[in-house]
Amino acid sequence: MKKRVAVLISGSGSNLQALIDAARHPDYPAEIVLVISNRPGAYGLERATQHGIKAMTIDHKAFENRKAFEQALHAALSDAQADIICLAGFMRILTADFVNRWQDRILNIHPSLLPAFKGLNVQQQAIDAGAAESGCTVHVVTPDLDDGPILGQRSVPVLADDTAETLSARILKEEHILYPETLARFAEKGLAATRKA
Ligand code: GRF
Repeated sequence: MKKRVAVLISGSGSNLQALIDAARHPDYPAEIVLVISNRPGAYGLERATQHGIKAMTIDHKAFENRKAFEQALHAALSDAQADIICLAGFMRILTADFVNRWQDRILNIHPSLLPAFKGLNVQQQAIDAGAAESGCTVHVVTPDLDDGPILGQRSVPVLADDTAETLSARILKEEHILYPETLARFAEKGLAATRKA
């Protein structure tokens, strides 16, 4: 049985596209059953619709508080019978309550070699720190931001004349390889897919 995956986005959704493309192969162990954006009009919603995947907006601004927003999120994910949630450029922090309800079932992709450079603007952080290399990480989401067991990483060099934009573009190419291959491993092996296991 293929694992049912929901992808949470806030923007362009190029990682979503990479997951959609991978999941079209008959042997891929996961299928994307739902895409949710917290931002109305996010381009990723269109990508989903184009591929016949259910797409919906749950606008956090329409809710009184984080708890109510997450309740709506939880209801949609439960309705879709999601086994795995992939965060792909999803720009909302999820509370411990939500994360615990979906414990060990939420993955995130982050554009640095964690544990280095957590939070935002991490490409600039890598340049400012004079890092010789950076990259991307897929990890299991735990209540602590950009923490949690690492499932996979790919690295790229940081070049002397890099800007945040040029470095982001180089990393993004690797993200598009890393996320589909890591999700496949996780769908098949679960937490045993972590590097330490
Ligand atoms: C990626 O760099 C991802 O690592 C970060 O947000 C960006 C999303 O890009 N979390 P896209 O929407 O998948 O194109």
